[in-house]
Amino acid sequence: MNKKFFPALVLSLVISGCFAQKQSLTKVFADAETQTLQLLKEAAATEKSAATPGVFTPRTLENGNLRNVASRDWTSGFFPGVLWYLYDFTGKKQWLQEAKTYTAQVEKEKTNGTTHDMGFKVYCSFGNGYRLTKDPAYREVIIQSARTLATRFNPTVGAIKSWDHHNDVWPFPVIIDNMMNLELLFEATNLTGDSTYYKVAVAHANTTMKNHFRPDYSSYHVIAYDPATGKVLKKNTHQGFSHESAWARGQAWALYGYTLCYRETRDKAYLAQAENVAKFIFSNPHMPADLVPYWDFDAPGIPNEPRDASAAAVIASGLYELSTYSSAGKDYVAKADKILASLTGIYRSPIGGNKGFILGHSTGSKPSNSEVDVPLNYADYYYLEALLRQKRLAEKKSVVELNKKN
Ligand code: GLY
Repeated sequence: MNKKFFPALVLSLVISGCFAQKQSLTKVFADAETQTLQLLKEAAATEKSAATPGVFTPRTLENGNLRNVASRDWTSGFFPGVLWYLYDFTGKKQWLQEAKTYTAQVEKEKTNGTTHDMGFKVYCSFGNGYRLTKDPAYREVIIQSARTLATRFNPTVGAIKSWDHHNDVWPFPVIIDNMMNLELLFEATNLTGDSTYYKVAVAHANTTMKNHFRPDYSSYHVIAYDPATGKVLKKNTHQGFSHESAWARGQAWALYGYTLCYRETRDKAYLAQAENVAKFIFSNPHMPADLVPYWDFDAPGIPNEPRDASAAAVIASGLYELSTYSSAGKDYVAKADKILASLTGIYRSPIGGNKGFILGHSTGSKPSNSEVDVPLNYADYYYLEALLRQKRLAEKKSVVELNKKN
């Protein structure tokens, strides 16, 4: 080959490769926009006809009908988050406006201290809003929400109480999902310089690391503590197949949660924890070839069990960040890329389908036969987040765009 021609050819292949990748991501986001426009229409129509006022944000489909939920629902922040991610990618004013409108409806949650789900609700909505607009009013909501969340911390247990329900079964339940809400606390310390929130988050992460994991680094779902002594009373599940099984989304929350804890603290123990969780997930013999897990790694009917696209999306997003900290980074990127290729190629709704949700085939709670093989707003949220992280990585930018300290 002509020696002069070869570098030019390589360069043009690289450029056209990048262009092709950009084109396809542009198409994926264009499809997501089309779907979301439809979902906005459907959500508005459902809201108008809803018997309960204040029910505004699309969560899932129930018997083919759209189910909107109120701000107190744990998933209320995800649809505003989807709107922020569409704005993030496209820069379009329309998405900015919709994101602001839907985010505003979550604000009253900032003083709702009855649940641990504050991070899901407020960080996915206001957190993204603040990242993209630097609106000081959003900053105040984040800080107030962290203040409220911290009231659920019990220093004897060393953790935040997850639920107020099921008190007869679990007096002080802590669920692995709660790791996701620590991001809000870390952010509040970053924004205010007050280390109280950071300390609560670190204590919670350490207690969870000690009690939630089995020797193979799979995670229990619910650990019940004695609030007076901090003693572990029970190791149970709520949404998994059995107490000793590995509920897929729980493993995803663990991977993502310890990755963000490492980002915020640089404590190597958290990095190792996230890597070990990744090892459990990807060496599991029940992980399907397309890397979209069944709803539980130990579901009894595998391979005839529903998948959970939401778990796959959370894992992919977490892996992109983890890849930037770990010596196994290349492998994590390859796995996350594979998950996204599967979600994009196989699990997306047809255009105009699923009332405008982006992905299908998630599972909320199989044991209660609730939200099985349906779209879920958090699957869409983490899918778009993972796509944006993949893009940032390819552009050699920091995968996670951080707000400035103070
Ligand atoms: N945080 C509730 C769930 O993952 O289903």
